[in-house]
Amino acid sequence: MAESQGCPFKHAADVDFMDPVVQENWFDAYDVLRAEAPIYFMPQLGMYVLTRYDDIEYVLRRPTLFTTGPDVQDTEPLIKFPENRALYEQKGWVRYTPLGENLPKHKHYRALVDPKLTLSAIREKEPFIRGVINDLIDTWIDRGEVDFMKDFAEPLPMIVIGELLGFPRMDLPKLKEWSFAWVLPFSRGLSFERERWAVEQHIELQHYIHAQVKEKRRAPKDDIISHLTVVEIEDVELGRRRPLTDQEIIGITDHLLIGGNETTAFALANGLWILFRNPDTYAALQAGPDKIRNWVEEVLRIESPTQGLYRHVSEDTEVNGFALKKGDMLAIRYGAGNRDPERFPEPQQPDLDRKNAGRHLAFGLGEHVCPGATLSRYEQWLAWEILLQRVHNMRPVPEKDDFTHIPGIWLRALKTIHMRFDKA
Ligand code: HEM
Repeated sequence: MAESQGCPFKHAADVDFMDPVVQENWFDAYDVLRAEAPIYFMPQLGMYVLTRYDDIEYVLRRPTLFTTGPDVQDTEPLIKFPENRALYEQKGWVRYTPLGENLPKHKHYRALVDPKLTLSAIREKEPFIRGVINDLIDTWIDRGEVDFMKDFAEPLPMIVIGELLGFPRMDLPKLKEWSFAWVLPFSRGLSFERERWAVEQHIELQHYIHAQVKEKRRAPKDDIISHLTVVEIEDVELGRRRPLTDQEIIGITDHLLIGGNETTAFALANGLWILFRNPDTYAALQAGPDKIRNWVEEVLRIESPTQGLYRHVSEDTEVNGFALKKGDMLAIRYGAGNRDPERFPEPQQPDLDRKNAGRHLAFGLGEHVCPGATLSRYEQWLAWEILLQRVHNMRPVPEKDDFTHIPGIWLRALKTIHMRFDKA
């Protein structure tokens, strides 16, 4: 169950992010890169890989110099096959994520969404979130064993984001399938057929959201989609305010839906895995539930669900003396910054008293910082609080899990995780 069996790489040139060995345990590879070439051009990716905390922070704090969003996708389209890309226009709406836009548009989109995801907005949902957690635990508490991923980590954030967006509860299983299809192209290297399936599923999701938008335009409720149907955005091109288009609402909603469930599910599962590996931390947490907030930060830092994303260099520049050219692509490795020993001593070790635990990069930083960070933290705080109360002696089920991960370079997700436990 150890995370590493000894470092298989000697030099930066040995590291290839497409290599399954690297994807299984990023952290050895990051250490080699950070020590030898913290800004390293990886030919297999066609990008410069950043692994030092300070360099990553420098880039994230300069969102006009290092951009994201549609212009990045033009260079490296997410949907690789033109026939599949064309399906969006033929059958649905162009795959567009307004929240991934660049400045100056970006801040206007965020201004519509952020007020719905503040701490006080989420606090109002606390009784609902507690109820969901307890209901899920009730379904398996008497069995002594649970498929933790399937019967807890995945449904919890899905039910919560579904409620916030305003989706009917009975549609959640289908929404889960669509979410899976939405993230699939990020693993890259899909076959034509697999990519086509993912696009077709996404178009079904677009139509589903569109139907919800029409319904909520007619009869708004207290949820995020209804809010999006009534607000106006400052259109920087027109120089005036206007309502959001259906395409914009669909693009904001599917982004929140997916952001809202996959990564938080991975974080909960990763937390359990870290507890299994660190019995002393588990004992300390059980004895001092006031440490839960730091625990959640440590989980996000040590096993960051989003290991990396990319940026586009918009003009010739330097990072820490390293020259970059307009058009270069950067692979920002949040997961590597989070294990940078300069910033976090003994970075692989959970430390419930770590003073700067919350300064990790798991949610990004600056202009594009994750809008769902508060929601996700809140779900995790409550989940661990209630789990620690209701379930004791959480332990692995070795015959059911090998603790390997879903292949891919951006996300870090255990394939499965089960636990045995004693009812408290
Ligand atoms: C453990 C859970 C989560 C993790 C690790 C995570 C991680 C991230 C990261 C690293 C970014 C990118 C920042 C950048 O571009 O540098 C991001 C952006 C985003 N996240 Fe999350 N996220 C989580 C939960 C959520 C939730 C619950 C939601 C929805 C409610 C959400 C919605 C989004 C959206 C819409 C963006 C794009 C923001 C923008 O570019 O302005 N995420 N997230």
